[in-house]
Amino acid sequence: MNRFEPNLRIPGPTGLPPSVREAGGRQMINHRGPEFAAMIERVLVGMKPYFGTTSDVAILSCAGTGGLEAAVVNVLSPGDRVLGVSIGSFGDRFAKIASTYGADVTKVSVEWGHAADPDEVRAALAAEPAPGYRAVLLTHNETSTGVMNPIAALAAAVREASPDTLILVDSVSGLGAVPFEMDAWGIDLVVTGSQKAWMAAPGLAMVAASERGWAAMETATMPRFYLDLRSHREAHAKGQTPFTPAIAVVYQVDEGLALMGREGAAAIFARHEACAAAARAGLTALGFELFADPRFASRTVTAANVPEGLDWKAFNGAIKARGLVLAGGQGKLTGLIFRLGHLGSVTLGEILDAIGVLEEVSLELGRPVQAGTAVAAAQRAALESLGVLAPVEA
Ligand SMILES: Cc1ncc(COP(=O)(O)O)c(C=O)c1O
Repeated sequence: MNRFEPNLRIPGPTGLPPSVREAGGRQMINHRGPEFAAMIERVLVGMKPYFGTTSDVAILSCAGTGGLEAAVVNVLSPGDRVLGVSIGSFGDRFAKIASTYGADVTKVSVEWGHAADPDEVRAALAAEPAPGYRAVLLTHNETSTGVMNPIAALAAAVREASPDTLILVDSVSGLGAVPFEMDAWGIDLVVTGSQKAWMAAPGLAMVAASERGWAAMETATMPRFYLDLRSHREAHAKGQTPFTPAIAVVYQVDEGLALMGREGAAAIFARHEACAAAARAGLTALGFELFADPRFASRTVTAANVPEGLDWKAFNGAIKARGLVLAGGQGKLTGLIFRLGHLGSVTLGEILDAIGVLEEVSLELGRPVQAGTAVAAAQRAALESLGVLAPVEA
């Protein structure tokens, strides 16, 4: 059942396991000393398999958006042609960062709730006259819509249509929760954030770059100082950071990675998949229509439409009073959808607990649901996802 009060079911920041909370409360240490050097080395090495890279990772003390900004300013120059593939509010943000720094951005804007189509991306690249786009911006998991892009297929389309184009990926809310193979997929820069799958507080952005990505930094001319990834890489090689890091969050990511190591990547990915399946089945059984194209439903956050006629404010108030915290819609989806996060330390018990609360409040407010069915549907879907139960024939 729910281990934390409240049951924080927003797509980050996520609830922290007790040992991670304790880690964040530890005494400060010298960030130029051997204890910090050993810790940052552990974190850097521990993260690489989740990125799917043997290349270098940089740890920045900033929000995930700072990591996206670092990706842009380190490999691009003002005037560079950039293709911003957006499937929601975070894709829009990534493109906006690039144009803010003077990139010449063309956007492919996909209807919200849908994933990007590799063929459309391929066609956009093919339509660009030589020398082609300098970079493509992709979102792995679009947190605002609950859609997970087919990132391997999208990267393959870019590689095929325009081999020299850099691929920059926002995986702030995906990495660590689902498989990712940056090297194998030919991706150049990947960004993630400590408050998502890593079971830690907000405060760190992690950016990995391919060899080609690191090389691009030598010729890129966008202005950068704090976010210059080369200075971070240089300092990391000496077990340090160029500036004073968010030490308490590094403690937490270190502990989060230790917990993840004990669980094992395959089990972590299966747990996220099972929790996502439970969330989708539970919400559907409660009569909520899911927002995302089911073929690309996110494994870290599920979005559902607010049904017509439902007083969302009253509904959400009753949910909160029972200790369940959901996220609303962002940007143009404000008031139209709600989102249930299932990433990081999430357990199936917490998802069943959330579905139970939604069921209770639905019954209280007279929504047409049958007591007990939603939690049962969620549980069944999770067991099917884990291969414990065979799927029921339709
Ligand atoms: C996909 C995605 N990109 C970027 C961000 C921005 O991260 P931050 O709020 O830490 O700046 C988020 C945060 O939710 C996100 O989900």
